[in-house]
Amino acid sequence: MDFGFTEEQLMIRDVARRIAQEKIAPSAEHFDRTGEFPLENIRLLGENGLMGIEVPEAYGGAGMDPISYVLAMIEIAAGDCAHSTIVSVNNSLFCNGILKFGTEEQKQLYVRAIAEGREIGAFALTEPQSGSDATAMRCRAVKQADGRFVINGKKSWITSGPVAKYIVLFAMTDPDRGAKGITAFMIDTTKPGFFRGKTEPKLGIRASATCEIEFQDYVAEAHEVLGTEGEGFRIAMGVLDAGRIGIASQAVGLARAAYEAALAYVKERKSFGQAIGSFQMIQAKIADMKCRLDAAELLTLRAAWAKANAERNGGRYSTEASVAKLSASESAMFITHQALQIHGGMGYSKEMPLERYFRDAKITEIYEGTSEIQRLVIARNETGLR
Ligand code: CAA
Repeated sequence: MDFGFTEEQLMIRDVARRIAQEKIAPSAEHFDRTGEFPLENIRLLGENGLMGIEVPEAYGGAGMDPISYVLAMIEIAAGDCAHSTIVSVNNSLFCNGILKFGTEEQKQLYVRAIAEGREIGAFALTEPQSGSDATAMRCRAVKQADGRFVINGKKSWITSGPVAKYIVLFAMTDPDRGAKGITAFMIDTTKPGFFRGKTEPKLGIRASATCEIEFQDYVAEAHEVLGTEGEGFRIAMGVLDAGRIGIASQAVGLARAAYEAALAYVKERKSFGQAIGSFQMIQAKIADMKCRLDAAELLTLRAAWAKANAERNGGRYSTEASVAKLSASESAMFITHQALQIHGGMGYSKEMPLERYFRDAKITEIYEGTSEIQRLVIARNETGLR
């Protein structure tokens, strides 16, 4: 691993940092309170190459590497976690899969619009009855004699579902074949047979709109299949490996924002005649937060490095991605909790962002595979046992 960054990597990090600090962080409280979708900020991120960081320039992206993606995501999440969720889904879950498995026409049609930030993308795997056990999905796509598919079923917890133009959907085409009977489809939400449910009220990342979606006799053309028939589960899992690096980066950025707020506060807040940072109990918290933050950041960069290697030489980086996601999300929960505690009553107040950081952190332990699923993936890969 190279611990130095290239000029290009630092450049995209600085662009993300500037937008995050000038536009995103100042508006985060508003979007959290109202639950409005931050469309203008997302468009700005798109205009600056941040909605398709690893997308080649030929398809409207910035043409950067996985390390650049991590560096940019950390900055955006430090500005606001909800914004970074929208960025992560567009970059990792949407663009990645199409770039890897899509046809030239699919890349031109779907990736370009999303990478340029003109449209929003989504990823639909979870259902009301199946989350961690993704192969238990009920959404069906039935092949017709003319090669088209008729899709019926529901998907839930769809990030950016209320605003997405295009969705990568996973549906069962051959229920008898289990994981090998799942196929991925490119969905155009303006076509008949596609419906949206109500936007979910959530504990955190409230500006990232989430809803249930439903398909009623939605017709997908043969050329709207992503990859090949029956390849859907492998696509979903591969894409989630990339997605988990995005969530790890998000957790690092959020944790950094909470840590920096705590570090400033312990130097200025006085108690018993001295700065609270001079008390050993606070010092222990600062030291523990700093160790967890640095470890999470290094593991996330290692996962990005492993992804870049896998892209060059083949192979998987599932273990590195799950280690990074597990470590970073649990560290974000720990650090936001400690930062709130250090701020006392002010941390609990909506006048400061600490309570929002704390609420936002929780989702990083749940979506794109819960902490329990990350432990399962890591242990299976390490032991070779199931
Ligand atoms: N890459 C490529 N292929 C993979 C893979 C990967 N990372 N992981 C598994 N596969 C392949 C396996 O090799 C296997 O293929 P073979 O039979 O040919 O060997 C096939 O997929 C089935 O694998 P498993 O037997 O391991 O499958 P499983 O049913 O035991 O499930 C699991 C494994 C790890 C539990 C998986 O279901 C999982 O990750 N579940 C969590 C789902 C998840 O993360 N959901 C998040 C929803 S998306 C979201 O949150 C997005 C958002 O909006 C923010």
